[in-house]
Formats: sequence, structure tokens, C-alpha cells
Amino acid sequence: MSDRETWTTRLGFILASVGSAVGLGNIWRFPFQTATNGGAAFLFVYLVAVVVIGLPAILAEFVVGRRAEMSAIGAFDELGHPGWRAVGALGVFAGFWTLSYYSVVGGWVIRYIGQAAMGSYGSNPKVFFGNVSAGPEAVALHALFMLLAVGIVAFGIEGGIERATKVMVPAIVLILVGLVGYGASLAGAGEAYDYFLTPDFGVIVANAPSVIPAAVGQALFSLSLGFAVMITYASYIDGDESLPVDGLSIAVTNTAIGILAGLVVFPLLFTQGVGPDTSGPGAVFIALPTALSDFGAAGRVVGVAFFVVILIAALSSAISLLEVAVSYLVDTHGFERRRTTAVLGVLLFLLGIPSAWDTAWLSWFDSIAVNLLLPVAVLLLVLFVGWVLAPDAVDELRIGSGDSFDDLAPLWLWSLRTVVLLAVLVTVALSVTELTGAPV
Ligand code: PHE
Repeated sequence: MSDRETWTTRLGFILASVGSAVGLGNIWRFPFQTATNGGAAFLFVYLVAVVVIGLPAILAEFVVGRRAEMSAIGAFDELGHPGWRAVGALGVFAGFWTLSYYSVVGGWVIRYIGQAAMGSYGSNPKVFFGNVSAGPEAVALHALFMLLAVGIVAFGIEGGIERATKVMVPAIVLILVGLVGYGASLAGAGEAYDYFLTPDFGVIVANAPSVIPAAVGQALFSLSLGFAVMITYASYIDGDESLPVDGLSIAVTNTAIGILAGLVVFPLLFTQGVGPDTSGPGAVFIALPTALSDFGAAGRVVGVAFFVVILIAALSSAISLLEVAVSYLVDTHGFERRRTTAVLGVLLFLLGIPSAWDTAWLSWFDSIAVNLLLPVAVLLLVLFVGWVLAPDAVDELRIGSGDSFDDLAPLWLWSLRTVVLLAVLVTVALSVTELTGAPV
């Protein structure tokens, strides 16, 4: 398809991928995963998981996308055989599923920007969260968030996603760095840094069966793997750039932003003695407002800045999830982009209504996505790239990397077939046991 769009620059591709990777997963999920799994010990295992599992896996998605120059379902067919279409279809379905509730959380964030500006979260942040997180208002804000995502994706790769993320990613970094500076000035900063950055390896050893899969799951989710996003984005690359260099830049930036978020959240919580509240999806919306409401005017400014960062991050991830489905319908069925994006937006809105109506449904959607669809999709991807595509995958990875990568490409394939496969198998086994039943 000669008229298929491409990124205008290599940086455009990298920023769009960073925009996808940096999302609620970094700023909302990561600090609280850290809190539930032993603080700095979790951070350490997560870093290892990013390098050993996340990096090889993101390169696997890049290789499939760039080699096929097609959206996910067609790509597996083109590079393997028609039976492998199912793997692409699983990714597209999983992305669609995930966006339906991701958008609901995005809606909460919009609401909290307004609340932070007023500096009031009702009489009690917990009760307040209960009131606004579910019901007609949450449905309306979910619609608004979906509308924003549709508004960007409708304009395509260059005029929509690339143009938006070129502004969004630098904005996230700038605001976060400012907030880290504020966090450093707080009385509880020292204690918070110690908690977040000084690992107690005893904790890892004692809790390995829960900490390791949690860290692997967080690494995969945070790098936007499993939902065909990186396959789709890489399919728009026009050029022979080095995929390992791109993958490394994306992984490093994504991890750095997660750490920055922790350096904002923990000093706030420790200074107010709120402690890292670990109670489910409401955590950041309850613990942080509780801390912020005691800081007066500064708390308002910090609150608005922080929720604006979360909104931008969530939106730049949501557009990548939406693009996966749009790209499939446009490529394979020749549908017109704008109309397709709008129709999908409406369907996603409808699918998200249960999650917006009752947070128990949201937790269930999240559990199916993260504990089932994501690890299974990554497992199938590893089998495909590691065994079906194998020699071609190595060739593709070598392109643009110079001789220095000659040894690295076979090492990458070997790591997919061994360490990554094993880690993902264990994650599948352990995550499936954590599936939550539907709330009916
Ligand atoms: N990586 C995103 C985050 O951390 C979530 C995401 C997962 C986005 C998969 C797209 C695909 O929030």
C-alpha cells in the first residue's frame, strides 16, 4: 500500500512510543505497585525486568511491525501464515478492551483537575472519590475523554498522533521535573527517598513469588506491550533506523518518568504522614488529595499540575490503543479513517459504561486485561518471533545497527527463546490465578 502514512521523523516515532508507554501505568499504577510490593525492593526487580524482559519484548513487536508494514492482524498473516492472524486479533481485541476502562479513569482525572483547582475534595477524599468515580457523572467524563482521543486519532499519524505527542511528552517531563523540585523541598523527602530508593533485598527474597510476576507485569504493561501498539506504531516507520537504539531510548525514558512520578508522590505522602495507601484503583485519587488538601495554595498549584500531567499521559496512551483498532480497519478493510475513528469511539464509550457505573466492573475489566490478555498475548508474540519468524527477525533487527550489533541480534533471539519465554510463562501461570470474577 504505497499511500500508507509514515512518521515524518525518527524522533516523531520515538516520542509517540514514549507517549504510549508513559501513562496511567507509570504515574498511577507504578507508585502504588511499589508500595504494595516492598518499596525500593520492587523498584529494583522492576528495573531488572525492564532490561531482561521488556526490552527484548518491545524489540519483538518492533520487528514484526516494521517488517510487515501493516497493522497487527495482517502482519502476523503476512510474516507467518493465516492461522497466526489470531494472535494479531487477540492484541487488537485486548487493546480495545483496555481502552474502554482506561478512558473511565481518564475521565476521573479530568474531574480531579477541576477539584484540585478549587482545593477541595469534599469533606472526606475517600467519600468524595466514591461519589465521583461511578455513576452518571463518571459516564459523562468517560465520554469527554473518549472524545479527546477520537479528536486526535481522526487526524492520522502525522497530523494527529505525531503532532500531539511532540508537545505532550516534553510537557509531561517539564511539569514532572518541576514537581520533583517541589517534592524535594518537603520535610518528608528524606524518609520518602529512603523508602523508594534504598532496596531491602531481604524483602525480595521473602516475597519472590509475588514480587517477580508483579514486576514483570508492570514492565510489560508500562512498555505498552501485548496490545499490538508497538507493532502498529513500528509499521509506520519509514526508514532503516536502528530498532535497538529506539527501543532503548523508549525504555529508558519511560522508566525515568516512572521514577520521577515516584519522587513526586512519595514525598507528598510521607510529609503528610498519609502513608502509601494501597487500596485498589482509588489509591492515587484518595491518598494524594488527602495529602494535597493540607498544603493550602501550594497544594492547589501542585494538585492541578499533577493531575494535568496524568491527563496528558493518559491521553497519549489512549490514542495509541485507539490507533491499533483504527489502523486494522483502515488497512484491512479500506475504511475511511475519520468515520472509523468516530464509530470506534462510540463503541468504546458503550463498552466502558459498566466500568463508569461501578468500580467493581472497572476492576474486573482491568484484571482480565492485565492478568489474562496481556501475558497470553506476549507469550504468543514470543513464540511467533522466537520460532516462526526467527531468522528473518534477526535480519530485521540488524538493519541500521552497524556491525557492532552483529552479535547482539542472535543474543536477542536467544534471550527471547529462554529467559523471556520462561518469565512470561511463569507470569501467565501466576497471573491467571489472580483473575477476579465478574461482579455479577
Ligand atoms: N503503557 C501504558 C501505561 O503505562 C498503558 C498501555 C498499555 C498503553 C498497553 C497502551 C498499550 O499507562
